[in-house]
Amino acid sequence: MKIGIIGAGNIGGNLTRRLTALGHDVSVANSRGPQTLTALAEETGATPVTVEEAARGAQVVVVTIPLKAVPDLPSGFLDGAAENVAVIDTGNYYPQQRDGKIAEIEDGLTESRWTERQIGHPVIKAFNGTYAQDILDKPQPVGTPGRVALPVSGDDEAAKKVVRDLIDEIGFDTVDTGGQDESWRQQPGTPVYGLAADTEAVAKALTEASSERTAEWRA
Ligand SMILES: NC(=O)c1ccc[n+]([C@@H]2O[C@H](COP(=O)([O-])OP(=O)(O)OC[C@H]3O[C@@H](n4cnc5c(N)ncnc54)[C@H](OP(=O)(O)O)[C@@H]3O)[C@@H](O)[C@H]2O)c1
Repeated sequence: MKIGIIGAGNIGGNLTRRLTALGHDVSVANSRGPQTLTALAEETGATPVTVEEAARGAQVVVVTIPLKAVPDLPSGFLDGAAENVAVIDTGNYYPQQRDGKIAEIEDGLTESRWTERQIGHPVIKAFNGTYAQDILDKPQPVGTPGRVALPVSGDDEAAKKVVRDLIDEIGFDTVDTGGQDESWRQQPGTPVYGLAADTEAVAKALTEASSERTAEWRA
């Protein structure tokens, strides 16, 4: 698959490593430009590009940058993507440590719904509660007892299937959290956030989530 990764940090870097290892055609972008990505490109075989080039023709685009940087993405950057592109959002709102106050999220909008509105395209929320290193260390073949499961949410069922199939190929089971309005169940501070456990445990954690944002996760 042609995959564009926007963000080459902890998560974007390791997704680049894993997806190139699986044979996908990966382009990767950051904020400073492709000339700063030569080491990752040499290591993985991914193509270093600009943000717009990362999306061009891509069947899957991963947005994996700090939430506060999402409004800085070039407008229309998804215009050149493949029809029905699945956009994965790995983002989390860290008001105190990183992102500052985002009023709509403080008022109850889910983090990924906010991101959808910024980029003008539906997203599938995935990997947001997964430690970056686990992307390299925890993949297991399908059917392995205790295989780690990742929660996945979003409204576009076709895109969600593409993303779930890709995550399965990467080496994880998935659990459908529901639509975007249910995606708070996998946001920071919930039982599933940071949990590396199997399908049953992840499904249980999702049901135990509270929609109330605790003080730790408020500006
Ligand atoms: N770290 C984790 O284990 C983890 C786990 C799950 C989810 N997340 C979430 O995933 C997102 C990414 O986290 P991370 O830890 O991978 O971040 P990170 O290590 O800080 O890397 C951020 C990346 O985003 C790029 N970036 C920033 N602004 C950009 C822009 N306007 N256009 C293009 N690229 C831009 C940066 O490029 P430059 O370096 O060139 O500025 C950098 O490559 C965050 O929302 C985070 O909360 C992280």
